[in-house]
Amino acid sequence: MEDFLNRGLAQTTLHPLNIEVSHARGAYIHLKDGSQILDFISGIGVSTFGHHHPEIVAALHQQIDDHLHVMVYGEARQKSQDLAAQSLLAYLPDTLDAVYFVNSGAEAIDGALKLARRITGRQKFMAMEGGYHGNTFGALSISSNRSRRAPFEPLLQGVSFIPFNDEQALEAIDTSYAAVIAETVQGDAGIRIPTATWLQKLRHRCNQTGALLILDEIQCGVGRTGKPFAFEHFGIEPDILCLGKALGGGMPLGAFVAAKQHMRQLAHDPDLGHITTFGGHPVACASSAVAMALMKKLDWDAIERRGAHMEETLIQQDGVQAVRRLGYFIAVDMESADAVHFCVEHARKNGLLIFYFLSTPHAFRIAPSLLITDAEIDHGLNVLNQALDAWSKRRALGS
Ligand SMILES: Cc1ncc(COP(=O)(O)O)c(C=O)c1O
Repeated sequence: MEDFLNRGLAQTTLHPLNIEVSHARGAYIHLKDGSQILDFISGIGVSTFGHHHPEIVAALHQQIDDHLHVMVYGEARQKSQDLAAQSLLAYLPDTLDAVYFVNSGAEAIDGALKLARRITGRQKFMAMEGGYHGNTFGALSISSNRSRRAPFEPLLQGVSFIPFNDEQALEAIDTSYAAVIAETVQGDAGIRIPTATWLQKLRHRCNQTGALLILDEIQCGVGRTGKPFAFEHFGIEPDILCLGKALGGGMPLGAFVAAKQHMRQLAHDPDLGHITTFGGHPVACASSAVAMALMKKLDWDAIERRGAHMEETLIQQDGVQAVRRLGYFIAVDMESADAVHFCVEHARKNGLLIFYFLSTPHAFRIAPSLLITDAEIDHGLNVLNQALDAWSKRRALGS
């Protein structure tokens, strides 16, 4: 197949999947060649309510009929933005009562970092080893993978890293920090789930030092971990919450959420202190409002039961060394990057999409739609088991 550059498109990887998409419905992506692939990764956590959900699509049609972009974010009152904000805030604690919509996850992170500096008057940020927050300069600066940062340095000054889920390390947070930023559950590090004690101590340390707690739930939020937002598992609340991916119901939408009295500071000194042309695009917001409403109807017990079933099935397979899971946020460790590559390719050729982590090469990810059925899960596990078996046989033959 022709590569992307030959079609005039920037190429982000030298090893693209290169599948040609025709259409996508529910848990399946249908390809131009007439085949279909069961989507076990939801576009890296985006298609959380499946592909082409009829209620989302109906809202999109309606919004397109009403209006597209009318004016820069924050100037004109638009029904879809109001609705998207209210539908999101209904899930969040009273202290998080203002949403700033942006276009992507990394943009939500950059906005949150600026807000933290603005509120505290401090400059430094504490971030976590293993953390991934995106690829704009701000988001890259607080992401820990050195090989991804090095070619683009110098990045933001005043960023330090501590080990994730390490209680002792919290002592390094002091009154010089504007904010501490962590994914509530680390994604790119291979689904690292912290203890509630650690997160509670992190919250306490932030309270003691006046550093704001920014939680990045761009990947682990919006139902992915089996609750609407991952921090609900741990008995803490952030000062700023960053969202993206599934928030838009398949449309590009990010957000950072904070207290009204804090968010207000972005509007003055200077005027329009943080601004984006397309943030909160009405079409993306129309889609998001429906996605948030769909989250209300989810059967969380069934999601946990199915998640546990996937975990129990996978851990019994030859070649699987560990499974880490919260809800439908799953990492499967294998012995090597080669083993992972073999299984991802084998599964894809047999109609199942699983995928890599950027920074954790010996593991693959599973993050299906929250609306996937028992039968679809069992079909996916079946294909996956065949891939794992094929890897074990290949290893036994030493080839
Ligand atoms: C935890 C986390 N934060 C931030 C981002 C960046 O989001 P985006 O790619 O929309 O900029 C990602 C993307 O994978 C992510 O997983």
